[in-house]
Order: sequence, then structure tokens, then C-alpha cells
Amino acid sequence: MTVPSNTVEIDRALKAKHRAMWALGDYPSVAADIIPDLGAVLVEACGVGPRHRVLDVAAGSGNAAIPAAEAGASVVACDLTPELFDAGRALAARHGVDVEWREGDAEALPFADGEFDVVLSCVGVMFAPHHQAAADELARVCRPGGTIGLLSWTPEGFVGQMLATMKPYAPPPPPGAQPPPLWGNEDHLLTLLGEQVTDVSVRRQSVTVEHFADPETFRDYFKSHYGPTISAYRAIADDPDLVAALDRDLAELAQRHDRGTENTVMDWEYLLFTARTRISRKS
Ligand SMILES: C[S@@+](CC[C@H](N)C(=O)[O-])C[C@H]1O[C@@H](n2cnc3c(N)ncnc32)[C@H](O)[C@@H]1O
Repeated sequence: MTVPSNTVEIDRALKAKHRAMWALGDYPSVAADIIPDLGAVLVEACGVGPRHRVLDVAAGSGNAAIPAAEAGASVVACDLTPELFDAGRALAARHGVDVEWREGDAEALPFADGEFDVVLSCVGVMFAPHHQAAADELARVCRPGGTIGLLSWTPEGFVGQMLATMKPYAPPPPPGAQPPPLWGNEDHLLTLLGEQVTDVSVRRQSVTVEHFADPETFRDYFKSHYGPTISAYRAIADDPDLVAALDRDLAELAQRHDRGTENTVMDWEYLLFTARTRISRKS
């Protein structure tokens, strides 16, 4: 199939924008401060072990890649945003493991068919805008009978709600781009991957976040550290009323989820999906 060249150009521009967004702020600190154990949860669910060749898709600074390497696997960490790799290299060195870092788009992975025993993504591939293209790539690079593992924020959970809260303030996504938290919906995942996998396990779990003193501290941290939040604020920077409204909405969101007494304590829901790729697949 020939893809019109303007489609290629539009996609390239979109991915450049996404890369710039994830390079804003300090995503490696967000991963380390807020969700340092989530990668290990996914690695364990996938049963990663010493003889495995593992691909971490949308790996960021290696939240899942590093625990996979600690489990003895040979690991490639791939991400659209290579600006995050220096932090990942430093973290891997601190953990005494080797990880190979590769720049790449989840929708066009720079790997051969069936190269990996385990293909996983921790709150990562969900941010690629074309879900079926990304899901097909996960299945393509995983060997027949290998494992695909995905940990994704749910639409109803805290991060799904945070993205929904910011959406009206940010520029509209381009036609065809799908919302990230759909990857946290069981039915959507089965539509994306169902024909290519078997032995599916899906669980809703949550991670407890106790990093913030109060809802306003949460908001200000995300405002300065987390690319999508920084980007939403940049889009409305000229309008103080909108900035005040987003300030209020984010603090109220955290307040609604706060079950703490002294500091803010929130449970952020995610969907943990594992499956095996079918031995014989439709081509
Ligand atoms: C929330 S971070 C998660 C990073 C890491 N997996 C973790 O658990 O900390 C989302 C990551 O997705 C990456 N990303 C977004 N769109 C992508 C795409 N189309 N292809 C590959 N990576 C992408 C971003 O660069 C970012 O590192």
C-alpha cells in the first residue's frame, strides 16, 4: 500500500511534537518519585527471567527496562524521546545493569519480526496516538509464543481523569489520534490484540501515591515536571483566567482522590494485561 507523502509528513510532525512534549520538565524524576515500583510489577507479571530477550516499548528512563535487566534478561529500551536516555543510563549504572537504548516510534518499531521473547510497556505505548498500529507492532516484534505485557492507566482512574481534566485546555488532538487511557479499557485492548494473542490475563490494580503534602503541591509538581501538563499550561499561558481554572481543576481532582489525613494519599488505578502471542498468526 502506498501511503500519501503528506500523511507521512503529518505523522512526522505529530511525533516531533510528542517528543518535544515528553522532553519538557523532568519525566525521569516523575517516574522515580511517583511510580518507581510500577515497572517491576509489570516485569514480574510477565515472568521475565535470565534467558529472555526483552523489549521495553516507550521505556522513558527505564522504569521497566531496568528491573527486567535486574531479573537477568537482555533488554532493549526503546522510546520516541532519546532526551530521557541519559537519565536512564545513569539509573541503570546505579543498579549495576546493562540496557541497550534505542530511539524509535512504537508505531514503527526499528526491530525485526519475532526478535523478542517479551515485549512490554509500562504506561508508555498508551501514549502513541494510533492504537492499532502500535498494538500490531508489539505483536510483530514478539516471537510466536512470547509474552506481551502492558500496564496502562485506566480512563476512570486518577491519571485517566487528570488527562481528561487537561484536555479542554490543550489544543485539540489531530484527526485519528486516540486518547491514551483507552489502553486501560479491557475491551479496547482485546479489540487491538485479541486476534494475535492467547492466554490473556487482565487485572485492575492501583499504585498508592504518597509523595505530595497536599493537592496544590501535587498540581505544582506536575505543572513543572510532567510534559503533558506543562504543555497544557503553555497552550493557555496568555489567558490568566484559564490558567487559574486549570489550577483549580487539577487541585480539586487531587482533593477528590485524597484519602490521606496528614499528607495527600491517592490510589492511581491501572490495568495490568499479559498475554502470549499465538504460535500461528493471521498474516
Ligand atoms: C508516561 S511515560 C512512561 C515511561 C516509562 N515507561 C515509565 O514507566 O516511566 C510515556 C513515554 O512514552 C513515550 N512515547 C510517547 N509516544 C511514543 C511513541 N509514539 N513511540 C514511542 N514512545 C513514545 C514518551 O517519550 C515517554 O517516555
